[in-house]
Amino acid sequence: MCGIIGYIGKNCEKVLLTGLKRLEYRGYDSAGMTVSRDGEFVTYKEVGEVKNLEKIVSLSEDFGYGIAHTRWATHGSISLENTHPHFSANGSVALVHNGIIENFEELKNDLLAKSIRFYGQTDSEVVAKMFDKLNINSLRYVLKRLVGSYALVLLSKDGEQLYFAKNRSPLYVARGEDCVMIASDPSCFVDFADSYFELEDGDYGKISLKNDVFYNKNDEKIEKMPKKIDFNFLSEDKSGYEHYMIKEIYQSRLVLESLIERYQTTNLKAKLEEIKHLEFDRIYLVGCGTAYHAGLVGQSYLNERFNIDTFCDIASELPNKNYNIDSHSLCIFISQSGETADTISALKFCKERDAHIVALTNVEYSTIAHLADINLPIFAGQEKSVASTKAYFAQCVTIYILSCFLQGKDYVEPLKIFKNHIDFGDDNELKKLAKVVARYDKVFFIGRGKDYITSQEVSLKLKEITYIFSTAVASGELKHGSLSLVDDKFLTVVISSDKEQFAKTLSNAYEIKSRGGKLLLITSLFVDSDVRGNFDYVLEVPKTENDLLPMQIILPLQKLAYFTACERGNNPDKPRNLAKSVTVE
Ligand code: AGP
Ligand code: GLU
Repeated sequence: MCGIIGYIGKNCEKVLLTGLKRLEYRGYDSAGMTVSRDGEFVTYKEVGEVKNLEKIVSLSEDFGYGIAHTRWATHGSISLENTHPHFSANGSVALVHNGIIENFEELKNDLLAKSIRFYGQTDSEVVAKMFDKLNINSLRYVLKRLVGSYALVLLSKDGEQLYFAKNRSPLYVARGEDCVMIASDPSCFVDFADSYFELEDGDYGKISLKNDVFYNKNDEKIEKMPKKIDFNFLSEDKSGYEHYMIKEIYQSRLVLESLIERYQTTNLKAKLEEIKHLEFDRIYLVGCGTAYHAGLVGQSYLNERFNIDTFCDIASELPNKNYNIDSHSLCIFISQSGETADTISALKFCKERDAHIVALTNVEYSTIAHLADINLPIFAGQEKSVASTKAYFAQCVTIYILSCFLQGKDYVEPLKIFKNHIDFGDDNELKKLAKVVARYDKVFFIGRGKDYITSQEVSLKLKEITYIFSTAVASGELKHGSLSLVDDKFLTVVISSDKEQFAKTLSNAYEIKSRGGKLLLITSLFVDSDVRGNFDYVLEVPKTENDLLPMQIILPLQKLAYFTACERGNNPDKPRNLAKSVTVE
């Protein structure tokens, strides 16, 4: 899920570093850059974040040709030798790659048979080693042999252009007055361009100061129409907060305000109306990670209200199930980034079966927004922390709005009331509890119904940023296996906001207590002192209208995960091994 960038112009190193920082959400295992001036390459590589690379790069105001990369390793360890750019055997061609070359082993064996030597283990180095010179014919020849996903940018020592190719990984081009850039994300262009070109799968070509040459997958020369940069790239800072994650949790209030306002406009109401008039007899909600959990919340709303079968699944699993997806299916794809490869694949799978495609994304120019028939924006604003918080909140609210609209029910009033009472929980109490949670190495989250969905989301959040082993179990399922794990070193967090289910959940909690497990009750219900006495810790969370409870309860729990990560000395914004945008399958 790396971020790649190429640039021709003045101040090459500085521009590339600025671009890499904007792309860092795509990976931060290592970063590197190669700049060519007067027929010579200068290369810098560092393991870790772009700020490490920045320390060793010497800046020059002179004109130059450069490529750079911020890596999320898929093949080969996180090391200097696996850091991009990678080079051809004769050292004359440099390459950066985002994606996975699925047949790299076969290609590598062919090269090894020709006595080509490798310094690292990446699939990307194999592609670099397939070149001995760089021109459109050599690029075409190599591309015909690649199987997999790639955005590639290549540079030769003596060339005055950058070569590129794209298949299933994003790539965009933009021109400024005396410069041209190619990058994984158009946010890199905002300092010098007001429009950009979007590359399609199978496109390849070259860019130079003078002109761009684009070919499509059928090797036909094509013209590209520029797209306006009309989206907002406000450069978000931490506004005094220690981390983006905590700032973003608090932004949920603003997000709610903005969703209420925007979903009363004619334009968005027209989109909702369009969905209402589609003919469908099944609904599928699809996403990955947190977005999948938002789908589960959506499923619970839709199931409660319609006489229509509603399914929710993980994007990578959808094609493996024999769902009956056809022109009578409404498929809703949820993705903050709009670039998640698994979600894109599932979307294409449903599109091929003529399903109606609706997207819920936070990035209006993203691939998923672009591929969908109808895109419902979630208006969360840029989310920088890898752990998704305000986007989850916004996804849930947007699906709530959609489900109310489909049912002809008012959503404005309930959301306004919610906005006025939204509650993020008491910091002192949450910090105290975070100290407790931070001491455990194993945590269960249990709940029933919507509380089970919340359990899944908080459990993901906790493990993602604290590295504590944590998993969510439906309360009723405990006794069917998972209970055997419980001992006095195990913490179980019991989430309970549903009066009807409380007695049963309580019994499940007591089954844990009888086996020495420690219990933390998180509840929005009134709980008498006898019951409280059975729990080691209790956290009361705010109440709100039933339908909106998942969005209310999650807020203090996101903070609990955040404080626990801080307590364990982790940087919650950039958890190890992860990236914000997951663009490989
Ligand atoms: C959540 O905290 C995660 N970092 C992750 O599960 C994320 O929600 C998932 O990768 C999906 O991303 P998307 O919404 O951009 O598609
Ligand atoms: N497969 C390449 C590597 O491991 C690129 C990774 C990616 O784009 O995620 O370096």
